[in-house]
Amino acid sequence: MSAGTRTVCFVSADPNGELLLPEEDVTFDVTHLVAAQSAPAMVEAIEQTGALAVCMAVDVPETLVMDTAMLLDEIRPEVSVVLLRVATPTLWQAAARHGVRDIVSPDCAASEMAAALLAALERGERVESSRATAGGTVSSRRGRVVVVLSPKGGSGKTMVASNLAVSLACSNTGETVLIDLDCVFGDIATVLGLVPDRTVGQLTALPTFDSTTLKMFLTRHDSSGLFVLAGSGTPEEGEALSDALVAQIIEMLAADFAYVVVDTAAGLDERALAAIDHATDCVLMASMDVASIRSLAKEISALDRMGMVAQRRHFLLNRADTRVGLEVGDVETAIGMPVDAALPSSRLVPLSMNHGHAVVLDEPDSNVAQRIVGFAQRFTPRPDDPIRLPGERKPAFSLRRR
Ligand SMILES: Nc1ncnc2c1ncn2[C@@H]1O[C@H](COP(=O)(O)OP(=O)(O)OP(=O)(O)O)[C@@H](O)[C@H]1O
Ligand SMILES: [Mg+2]
Repeated sequence: MSAGTRTVCFVSADPNGELLLPEEDVTFDVTHLVAAQSAPAMVEAIEQTGALAVCMAVDVPETLVMDTAMLLDEIRPEVSVVLLRVATPTLWQAAARHGVRDIVSPDCAASEMAAALLAALERGERVESSRATAGGTVSSRRGRVVVVLSPKGGSGKTMVASNLAVSLACSNTGETVLIDLDCVFGDIATVLGLVPDRTVGQLTALPTFDSTTLKMFLTRHDSSGLFVLAGSGTPEEGEALSDALVAQIIEMLAADFAYVVVDTAAGLDERALAAIDHATDCVLMASMDVASIRSLAKEISALDRMGMVAQRRHFLLNRADTRVGLEVGDVETAIGMPVDAALPSSRLVPLSMNHGHAVVLDEPDSNVAQRIVGFAQRFTPRPDDPIRLPGERKPAFSLRRR
């Protein structure tokens, strides 16, 4: 094979099987293989073609397809398997578990087929080149990771995380993802009116996953273009989400999205700590009551003691206009930070949330929506805006944009 040739390996049980492609403008070669009897034999034959994408015809038995995909995922992760089948949620789940990258309908247009195979080839090339340049050790991180925190339940974390993410998504189409890390009682999907097919809880059942698989677990919020990694379906599933898994999920998403917003449970559980460790920014929230403010001050001290000081901190005071005998100045003194944003109390907030809508879209002219949109602008970096990398603490890098 000549250098630079892109090859797709088409596997079918029928020796006369054919892949339907457009007559012109196809930028890759196709090599046909007749399906072997076992996954190892299939992998060996595929490896000999040098292909970075494999297209499995509808007549190749599903167990053979899945076993081959899993073996390739282990030993040749740069090779993407595309399955010709009618996709169903069950098939997607099996595909995700076995490392199949895409499912394409056998009845799709030739151009669609070519586009799917090209995407699979390009993914393979990206994996190959990142391995070559980084030796598999340097993160391709580019996104800004914003973690919303508060020691107290009910302080408005989910309201802020969801509206902040929607606001960022509206000005950065396809570039923003929101993760629900409140694994036991998370309600991001509900407040955004989403019915997710897959949740972060189901992800914990997979033995391994890569970023392509992870993306299959995202649910799109159509009115903003935001992607959501929904919280777990059950508390048991949620508990299975370890700090290591949280770190992996955030790293993978930050490599692909410009903004990763994370909603957390009240307090500092192990998932929140893992998220903070991989964050560029923390939104620290309190509301206008002494208990909430004291708790936040303690949480900040705890973060300091744990050395979690590399992230930018943003202090957001919710329901700041509540008249309880406290002034904003008192709060700033107690917390030791200026208030970066103050949100008013507004009945529009529960009204929107109860309807599964984001207030920034539902009531864009309201004071509360405008404050949130203004706050979101803090995270839109200028090209020369340095961001400190968590883990590295000292050095700075400039955010790379697409
Ligand atoms: N600025 C606001 N004005 C009026 N109501 C608000 C405001 N912020 C939040 N709320 C309401 O307060 C309640 C709690 O908000 P939210 O669910 O966002 O808090 P939370 O910190 O995520 O809670 P939990 O810790 O239980 O997850 C919701 O009913 C929400 O509508
Ligand atoms: Mg919440």
